[in-house]
Amino acid sequence: MNESQTHVENVRQSAEKIVAASAGLKPKIAIILGSGLGGLAKQVEDAVTIPYAELPGFPVLTVSGHAGNLILGKLGGVPVVVLNGRKHFYETHDAYPLKTMIRALKSAGVETLFLSNAAGSLRANIVVSGLMLITDHINFLGLNPLVGPNDESFGPRFVPVTDAWDRDGSEKIREAAKQENISLHSGVYVAFRGPSFETPAEIRMVQGWGGDAVGMSSVPECLIARHCGMKVVGVSCITNMGAGLSDEKLSHAHTLENASKGAADFERLVIAAVKLL
Ligand code: HPA
Repeated sequence: MNESQTHVENVRQSAEKIVAASAGLKPKIAIILGSGLGGLAKQVEDAVTIPYAELPGFPVLTVSGHAGNLILGKLGGVPVVVLNGRKHFYETHDAYPLKTMIRALKSAGVETLFLSNAAGSLRANIVVSGLMLITDHINFLGLNPLVGPNDESFGPRFVPVTDAWDRDGSEKIREAAKQENISLHSGVYVAFRGPSFETPAEIRMVQGWGGDAVGMSSVPECLIARHCGMKVVGVSCITNMGAGLSDEKLSHAHTLENASKGAADFERLVIAAVKLL
């Protein structure tokens, strides 16, 4: 089998395992947890956990704060799949593990992908431990996960992304924030490749471009999901101000520590939102 045939087979086998383990649950929403936001996984009721290692073609994880488990169960009574951990493009050039994960979810019946991430703020009014609804993105990764031969059975060669981040779904997340009395900003997420954080000059550049937050994930996930016809919504948990915008020292430990500060609001928001989505 060549690479793309292996991929198709991995998607099929992983989707089959997910459906078999879900015992008729039929989740329509999958939530990918970002760095430091893994706490939500513990809130899943009647949880059935499948380690990524048991799902053919799923990512093999290396970064701390990313566990590598798929969890089936309910949040606030709503059937969900929670994905604790994903591969970043700073770890690999290989988009197949991420594609396998998202396409297997789609094959298993998931219609909406809820993305989350830790991000740096580009705006003085979006402060640390605040939450930002992602309304659009700028792909500054220098790559697109859909580059390479296109398999029409997953989606079209050219994908319109005018509506990459679902408007109706985003409205429901805003509604959930109101219900829960959580302050929720909205804005444009700029994806850098990493693994270095940005320079102050890069931060000024993307401020000028209309960015509101920066991070190293979620854009590939969004593009793969839109390609195969899933709806996408997303929330950034602000863990720091962008480089040069404050005196804080940026590090992965700092990201994880501050993500845990915003995590309680994030968890409440997701649980309220899945009931409306
Ligand atoms: N830049 C890029 N990625 C990030 C940041 C940041 O400032 N904070 C958390 N993830």
